[in-house]
Amino acid sequence: MKKYGVNDLRRMYLEFFESKGHLAMKSFSLVPHNDNSLLLINAGMAPLKPYFTGQEIPPRRRVTTCQKCIRTGDIENVGKTARHLTFFEMLGNFSFGDYFKEDAIKNAWGFLTEELKLPKEQLYITIYNDDDEAHDLWRKITDMPEERILRLGEKDNFWQMGETGPCGPCSEIHIDRGAEHACNHPDGCALGVCDCDRWLEIWNLVFMQYNRDENGVMTPLPRPSIDTGMGLERITSVMQNVNSNYDTDLIYPLIEKVEEISGKQYDKGADGFPFRVIADHARSCTFLICDGVLPSNEGRGYVLRRILRRAVRLGKSLGIEGPFLYQFSAKVADMMGEDYPELLD
Ligand code: GLY
Repeated sequence: MKKYGVNDLRRMYLEFFESKGHLAMKSFSLVPHNDNSLLLINAGMAPLKPYFTGQEIPPRRRVTTCQKCIRTGDIENVGKTARHLTFFEMLGNFSFGDYFKEDAIKNAWGFLTEELKLPKEQLYITIYNDDDEAHDLWRKITDMPEERILRLGEKDNFWQMGETGPCGPCSEIHIDRGAEHACNHPDGCALGVCDCDRWLEIWNLVFMQYNRDENGVMTPLPRPSIDTGMGLERITSVMQNVNSNYDTDLIYPLIEKVEEISGKQYDKGADGFPFRVIADHARSCTFLICDGVLPSNEGRGYVLRRILRRAVRLGKSLGIEGPFLYQFSAKVADMMGEDYPELLD
């Protein structure tokens, strides 16, 4: 498998979908526009909701983005697991009433196996319980054997972000990172049984069919649509053959910066927790402030304040004296400014 840098992967994804007729749009701001249901953009589809529901006309019926996102729901896990982050980039391709399941599956499979050349025998698929159509399409389009297509329930394979908005059954592509990553789950380490770092979900294909309102009532969307999400950090960790998002060229240089400022050496095990948290939180703070959020006692300003304070507290635990977090912004801008010129501005 060829090793790609994160900037190559971001570009390859967008160019692949442009070659399939998609319009590549710039990432939207982390601050939602005309959407009171969200404090911060937390998924690639979030800024595109009005195009799914038919409230607004999209610039094209096929769109692709690399969207900056913030999720703080699992902030306690950040730095403890290989995959949790508060700031991440979501690669997505979207169809607003244009193609549906067949082309979504065909394109995802094409990108992973022909473009990135991931080993097919390590890939697994999950589908929503009774989605026979998705099952048959996976069988028809790919050479995925029956035993590597799993049917799971609503918790795993019905996607919606938050309480309201566009939603639908989904199909996920997972990679088996190898038996050496297996856990000791009493029922055996297997996809759909445990949630360990062996089974890495890399791409979620959502077959958007409904809009859920405040009362939980689901009404069909004007036309079936597609929303997909592939975490850039995760696919980068797979392509760079490293065990954790934190070991990729997207984050590791920030860990080195923590080493430089603290004078302490990073440890990939439990002792490296503060380094990983500071690296992650430095990205969140830089991007949030860049999008106009400032620390405050409420709303999205409070989200920033919490992240910032956590990073500072962990900096103190490494013996760093005085203000230090600001030093990361230039580094983040250096690493990501080409794709996010607002950081340089
Ligand atoms: N919108 C699909 C995902 O974020 O997984």
